[in-house]
Amino acid sequence: MFLSIIYLLLLFPLFLLSTASIDRHFLVSRYTPARNSSNPNTPMQIGNGNFAFGADVTSLQTFLPFATLSSWGWKNDTLPPNRTIEDVLNYKGASWFNHGRLVQYDFGGDPEIEQWLTANPNRVNLGRVGLLWVDKGSGETKNVTENDLSDVHQTLDLWTGIMSSQFTCDSTIVNVTTTSAQDISAISVTIVSSLLSPGTSNSSTRLGVFLDFPWADGSQKFSAPFVGNYSPSLFANHTTTLEHSDGSTQIKHQIVDAIFYTAVSSTTKLNITRDSPIAHRYNILPRTNTDTLSLVISYNSTLPNKTPDVAEVTQSSVDAWEEYWTESGFVDLFTGSTDSRADELQRRIILSRYLMRVNEAGENPPQESGLVNNGWYGKFHMEEYFWHSAHWALWNNLPILLRSSSIYNKFLFTSIIRAHVQQGYSSGARFPKMTDPSGRSSPGEINNLLIWEQPHPLVLAEYEYRAASRLGTSRPEQKMLVLEKWADVVRETANWMSVFAWFNETTNVYDLGPPMYVVAEDTLPNVTVNPAFELAYWRFGLELAEMWMNRLGEEVPINWTIVKNNLAPLPIDTDHGVYAVYEGIENDFWIDPAYINDHPALVGLHGWLPPTPGLSLSIAKLTAEKIWATWNFSNCWGWDFPMLAMSAARNNETEKAVDWLLDPLFQFDDVGMPIGGVRVPTPYFPGSGALLYATAMMAQGWDGSEGNREGKAPGFPKEGWNIRVEGLSTAL
Ligand SMILES: *[C@@H]1O[C@H](CO)[C@@H](O)[C@H](O)[C@H]1NC(C)=O
Ligand SMILES: *[C@@H]1O[C@H](CO)[C@@H](O)[C@H](O)[C@H]1NC(C)=O
Ligand SMILES: *[C@@H]1O[C@H](CO)[C@@H](O)[C@H](O)[C@H]1NC(C)=O
Ligand SMILES: *[C@@H]1O[C@H](CO)[C@@H](O)[C@H](O)[C@H]1NC(C)=O
Ligand SMILES: *[C@@H]1O[C@H](CO)[C@@H](O)[C@H](O)[C@H]1NC(C)=O
Ligand SMILES: *[C@@H]1O[C@H](CO)[C@@H](O)[C@H](O)[C@H]1NC(C)=O
Ligand SMILES: *[C@@H]1O[C@H](CO)[C@@H](O)[C@H](O)[C@H]1NC(C)=O
Ligand SMILES: *[C@@H]1O[C@H](CO)[C@@H](O)[C@H](O)[C@H]1NC(C)=O
Ligand SMILES: *[C@@H]1O[C@H](CO)[C@@H](O)[C@H](O)[C@H]1NC(C)=O
Ligand SMILES: *[C@@H]1O[C@H](CO)[C@@H](O)[C@H](O)[C@H]1NC(C)=O
Ligand SMILES: *[C@@H]1O[C@H](CO)[C@@H](O)[C@H](O)[C@H]1NC(C)=O
Ligand SMILES: *[C@@H]1O[C@H](CO)[C@@H](O)[C@H](O)[C@H]1NC(C)=O
Repeated sequence: MFLSIIYLLLLFPLFLLSTASIDRHFLVSRYTPARNSSNPNTPMQIGNGNFAFGADVTSLQTFLPFATLSSWGWKNDTLPPNRTIEDVLNYKGASWFNHGRLVQYDFGGDPEIEQWLTANPNRVNLGRVGLLWVDKGSGETKNVTENDLSDVHQTLDLWTGIMSSQFTCDSTIVNVTTTSAQDISAISVTIVSSLLSPGTSNSSTRLGVFLDFPWADGSQKFSAPFVGNYSPSLFANHTTTLEHSDGSTQIKHQIVDAIFYTAVSSTTKLNITRDSPIAHRYNILPRTNTDTLSLVISYNSTLPNKTPDVAEVTQSSVDAWEEYWTESGFVDLFTGSTDSRADELQRRIILSRYLMRVNEAGENPPQESGLVNNGWYGKFHMEEYFWHSAHWALWNNLPILLRSSSIYNKFLFTSIIRAHVQQGYSSGARFPKMTDPSGRSSPGEINNLLIWEQPHPLVLAEYEYRAASRLGTSRPEQKMLVLEKWADVVRETANWMSVFAWFNETTNVYDLGPPMYVVAEDTLPNVTVNPAFELAYWRFGLELAEMWMNRLGEEVPINWTIVKNNLAPLPIDTDHGVYAVYEGIENDFWIDPAYINDHPALVGLHGWLPPTPGLSLSIAKLTAEKIWATWNFSNCWGWDFPMLAMSAARNNETEKAVDWLLDPLFQFDDVGMPIGGVRVPTPYFPGSGALLYATAMMAQGWDGSEGNREGKAPGFPKEGWNIRVEGLSTAL
């Protein structure tokens, strides 16, 4: 015993040497975003997951009105003319037959109210902050453009979350540094330039800051790259007022019924004035001679009490980002790899890790465009939540996943009402697909007939349970807390999945649909039955739910097991010996342009999903190869490519797996923004989340893969790649 301790002590330093930890700071810094002019399509961003600020090349929103968005800033537009809230509350959509039974959905019916419900509530752009140039003689605002700047340089220090710009204007250097607070929705701005002083500099120009507040309404479904409209013609559609209270100054912005406060605090005495009587623009100039202007600008729906100072905001950014980079999982596939693709893949990983933390780490599920701009009115989609968030589990960021994963508990009651009262199912909860923090289902046929979002909570619950299990005997109570947190959600999710499956007395199996939409949303809902992906996902989900009951020591409801064991077999295209999208689709769908677009979910059968009962791995492989050969990938986007990579990886096609991750149709711009696709605008963050999910899985492995131990990286080629991982978790 004693000897073995000495032995261990002797070995310990050797052990450390041979597994020197990854030089994370080196790798993160290697991909520091830098710009010398604004990108008209994407901002450089800082933020904290619940709040983000998008900047042009000045590290503010001077020349381009990039957005300031949050997880909490929402508003309702006025109702259509002559309509009342009763019309909204009494809205009833169409009823369609489900196996002879009429089921009521949230689509159809009153078109005016349907459109209002689709567009409301919508997400608010909290406002714009930019540099202001004033002519000293006339006191008039000068129209300075980006062309008037020279020696422009902007960088984003990913390790600390500090964004800074330097440029020359009027022969004078201007430095701007911007950071985001981590606990509240606030930025700090520090400007250093002799142009700030009213008196001392020789220049005819004074430098200051302006704030501006846009109007926006639900007519703006997709808003990329900017949110809202600053046109003076819309001045009367909203109000702003400058208020002073208890030593703080704030601008109160009212849009219809919603109120947002923008508080400005500074150690410098400020002169804040409205730009003109018909503008929502406010000009801020220092009253005294100074070379430095430091401001904290914070956003809230309530009157501010105390705002932190610049040092506190900056420190919170430095601390949170350093902790994020040092404590999370990490992959180094650059150092020591000879494959020329490694550098770009590492860049995508580092920049995606940054942007997910800025845009997708909030207390609500994120929208596809995160906090950059608005898509679908700023609402979020629960089917995409898997791609937005499951990677947190693999990268050892459970606290971030936990911020939003309780959404299922929040939505449980209304989802039970939806299933029982509105739709007449005997049991369970049907979660909304497109929604907002209220949990109301947005109208639309696809929104209400898609089903692949339903098993997601079972997978997320499983990942949280595994994370709790890894804490082992040190925190035994954690497993029980996770089991209890999810118990009702798991039960009601599986209940609905089992009653949605409909027993077909002719075939003696349980059918999924009709009516329903498949993942690619491109088949006729009234004829779509037994889609391959959804059948496999149902089996997988019900299996996870059964395990949950066993862990809780509760009896597994017999219906779950009966349905799981008797679901229809996966449909097969007998002409080609491969799986088919759904049962009864024509075998030549492979040459029909209507069906070979959009998400190729058939490759998810073995890749995204682990093998499920009844799945033939050889048919799944032929199916994946058929898709590689025939699909119209120019009409794919985002997570399609990581999904293809995961399928290739599970089929031991590791070269191909890397190719898919770097496919020319799957792009990330200079700051790492995931480029959209034919039907989705930029950025499209499910692509970033899926990239992180796939790379973690390929590097760390999956249940049953050969390489769960560090260094094996079962999803990467053996030649040319040197993969090191720290703190990642195995994929299911
Ligand atoms: C600005 O950046 C572009 C792209 O990185 C580069 O090609 C160009 O040389 C830079 N221009 C200056 C003036 O630094
Ligand atoms: C919008 O109106 C609905 C009622 O239709 C209400 O439930 C919701 O809380 C409102 N949301 C906001 C942000 O005002
Ligand atoms: C609203 O109602 C008023 C009074 O009934 C009517 O004159 C007006 O045309 C209606 N407006 C619309 C848009 O329906
Ligand atoms: C589906 O069937 C319902 C009747 O159950 C019908 O009202 C609806 O128009 C059909 N939808 C489509 C897209 O054909
Ligand atoms: C400022 O200058 C730009 C470029 O010349 C011009 O497009 C813009 O309309 C001007 N803005 C104002 C407010 O004069
Ligand atoms: C501006 O920033 C640059 C780069 O960080 C620095 O070298 C320089 O000293 C700064 N100038 C002023 C006036 O702060
Ligand atoms: C808003 O202000 C309250 C009270 O100061 C604070 O508790 C809360 O964190 C703030 N919210 C945000 C989003 O900054
Ligand atoms: C602005 O308000 C006016 C008057 O209420 C209204 O007619 C107009 O539609 C509004 N514009 C927008 C873009 O909401
Ligand atoms: C504040 O700014 C306004 C508008 O530029 C100006 O008229 C006023 O004199 C300034 N007040 C002080 C105290 O500097
Ligand atoms: C039962 O399944 C068969 C074969 O899939 C199908 O043709 C039939 O329509 C199903 N019955 C009902 C009532 O849905
Ligand atoms: C179980 O399935 C049977 C037969 O389909 C059904 O009658 C019963 O309501 C189901 N029980 C629950 C709790 O869903
Ligand atoms: C992949 O290779 C491993 C080890 O060589 C093997 O055990 C496994 O069956 C292969 N998987 C597939 C899907 O071919």
